[in-house]
Amino acid sequence: MQNFNKPILAIESSCDDTSCAILLAHQVLSNVVASQQVHREFGGVVPELASRDHQKNILPVVQAALNKAGVEIADLGAIAVTQGPGLSGSLLVGISFAKSLAAALAIPLIGVNHMEGHVLAHLIDDAGPEKPPFPFICLTVSGGHTQLIQVNEATDFKILGETIDDAVGEAFDKAAKLLGLPYPGGPEIDRLAQLGDTSRFKFASTQVSGYDYSFSGIKTSFLYFLRDREREQSGFIQANLNDICASYQAHLVKVLLKNAEKVIKATGIGHFALAGGVSANSYLRKEVTALGQRIGIKTYVPKFDYCTDNAAMVGIVGYYKWRVGAVDSLSIVPQTRMPLRK
Ligand code: KG4
Ligand code: ZN
Repeated sequence: MQNFNKPILAIESSCDDTSCAILLAHQVLSNVVASQQVHREFGGVVPELASRDHQKNILPVVQAALNKAGVEIADLGAIAVTQGPGLSGSLLVGISFAKSLAAALAIPLIGVNHMEGHVLAHLIDDAGPEKPPFPFICLTVSGGHTQLIQVNEATDFKILGETIDDAVGEAFDKAAKLLGLPYPGGPEIDRLAQLGDTSRFKFASTQVSGYDYSFSGIKTSFLYFLRDREREQSGFIQANLNDICASYQAHLVKVLLKNAEKVIKATGIGHFALAGGVSANSYLRKEVTALGQRIGIKTYVPKFDYCTDNAAMVGIVGYYKWRVGAVDSLSIVPQTRMPLRK
């Protein structure tokens, strides 16, 4: 007989954050994240270095999470771990560790889809003042994904629209690189944009059918914009950095929310949530709230800790899967591409 009141230990190692969380049902007892700094000098995540850093961090991070939660390893009821999508070598570290722990303690192992984690983070007790009821629409915006999802149940996700090329996080990070800002560029653009004028510069957008997105054209037009202006006026970027960041960020947010509004109106679903790393963006958060007020729907923006990669979101998915018996064998392997559950 399973005891679902026992704590779950969750591990996330899909990209460049090593994280471990302890959850008791919807309650997070601890959520420890070690963000890797080694990639900054390379302007992007170096997979080989990421797996090595996970290997170095995983044990201290797990120990810190257990200590902080005040939970003994012998009291755990299940182990949840990100199975994909993500970098193969990075995922392997978390999965191997989780398997060993599950085998040693003879408790269930649950492989979790990272993107489902971003979405279901909203169901964690302290994610926000209120939890979205099913069904809700979720705009998931991260370094690798941009998706409009209809969330019917904790185990039933329907993708209504997604990017056909780059993710919006890449549109932030690549633009930041062109501006000479450090990686990851999203938070840098967010910070500088707060001092800039959102309407000073205009950028092109690509028309895509249905509710899909395209960000690679926007990124290219940004590249030409910078090149042409810099040619006309040497030092243009430095002299106008805040306005460039504010205008470009506002443009990306406008593109994101245009389709979101269409989906909300077409489905008649009045609950709209934001998820994923880019949902930490202060302008996007403000505009989502404004959209809700303008069209009369409820909006849900998670607290910062649950926006960027963290293991608490893996734990909540693990909890829902555990409860319905969706546990895995000890032979699971990383899935670098992993579809959402239907
Ligand atoms: O979800 P996440 O932590 O990792 C992935 O699953 O990809 O998302 C990382 C992305 C990066 O592209 C990063 O630049 C972006 O989230 N990001 C932001 C902000 N904070 C993180 N983008 C814009 N504004 C922010 N404040
Ligand atoms: Zn993520």
